[in-house]
Amino acid sequence: MGIRIAGTGSYLPEKIRTNADIEKLVDTNDEWIRTRTGVEERRIAGPDETASTMAIKAAEKALAQAGVDGRDIDAIVVATISPDYIFPNTGALVQNYFHCKQAFCFDLSAACAGFVSSLEVGFSLMRSFPDKYRNVLVCGSDKLSVIVDWTDRNTCILFGDGAGCALLQNDGTDSPDSILASSLHADGGYTDVLRIPAGGSKAPACHETVWNRDHFIYMEGRETFKLAVNAMVSSSEEVLAQAGISIDQVALVIPHQANLRIIDAVAKRLGIGEDRAFCNIRYYGNTSSASIGIALDEACRTGRIKRGDLVLFTSFGGGLAWGSMLIRY
Ligand SMILES: CC(C)(COP(=O)(O)OP(=O)(O)OC[C@H]1O[C@@H](n2cnc3c(N)ncnc32)[C@H](O)[C@@H]1OP(=O)(O)O)[C@@H](O)C(=O)NCCC(=O)NCCS
Repeated sequence: MGIRIAGTGSYLPEKIRTNADIEKLVDTNDEWIRTRTGVEERRIAGPDETASTMAIKAAEKALAQAGVDGRDIDAIVVATISPDYIFPNTGALVQNYFHCKQAFCFDLSAACAGFVSSLEVGFSLMRSFPDKYRNVLVCGSDKLSVIVDWTDRNTCILFGDGAGCALLQNDGTDSPDSILASSLHADGGYTDVLRIPAGGSKAPACHETVWNRDHFIYMEGRETFKLAVNAMVSSSEEVLAQAGISIDQVALVIPHQANLRIIDAVAKRLGIGEDRAFCNIRYYGNTSSASIGIALDEACRTGRIKRGDLVLFTSFGGGLAWGSMLIRY
């Protein structure tokens, strides 16, 4: 049908929080953080910045690159675990900004697998209803700084804020679609490993949940690490096998930016060198739903990938939710 990524965009808040800044908050040090995670600094959104405002700024760039007017967007999917509100959904706020009143909007919660999951949903809508959905905006946006416990050294070192977007467009030609293969998974048996314990219908907000700091991200780091590497490698192998493509043909692997050691381990097991595994974790930390969108935009704008290149996304996050996708950019 000719469905392709017509434009990408990203937004990172201006404020930088370095490892030295974090040393003042918890018992840690720059060397520990750098060697265990690869993170040197992360961006922190301002008080007026939210998941929707960051998504809008990233989307403006994607639309400009694609040459599409915001009013012509037919659907908006926002991957986020830190929406402006529980409801209305963040997508509706983005829709209001772009005046695309016909657009169908929703949020998708798949944590760090959110961007790839949203791409799958966006593409699926366009394939199922080609006359209805010609321009679909896929965003990943997270303001994790408000759901991170800045007194917990196990987690606060890892995360940052930001947004990444892709504008999917059906150009109506008979050229092949960009997505060649995808493989998305979940395992709800691991909810305890990575989650925010309170604030939903199971443990609604009350004095006790606030007192217990249950509205912040809770993570079993070591367990998450092991599961992430295996899941990202196996789902990458699945999509390569589905498409009949060898890893040597892939120009760039864009892994979710969770931890430099996870990225290195995945690259090693896939048999690629550092030059073909995209990594910007040093500057932004883990931006969850946004990380692959931000990385894709950087890779496009810096010429790391060119039109026609094969690109492999691989993701992993709370849910557990994980998966990979092979595209021809
Ligand atoms: C969180 C993570 C960096 C911790 O690294 P690790 O090598 O597994 O470290 P451990 O949790 O085993 O802790 C080792 C020691 O360092 C200590 N430690 C933990 N955080 C620390 C910090 N920020 N600074 C200094 N020491 C710290 C621990 O208390 C522990 O001390 P102990 O041995 O005296 O008990 C790592 O497990 C990780 O990145 N996991 C995956 C996280 C992730 O990707 N999450 C999102 C998925 S999308």
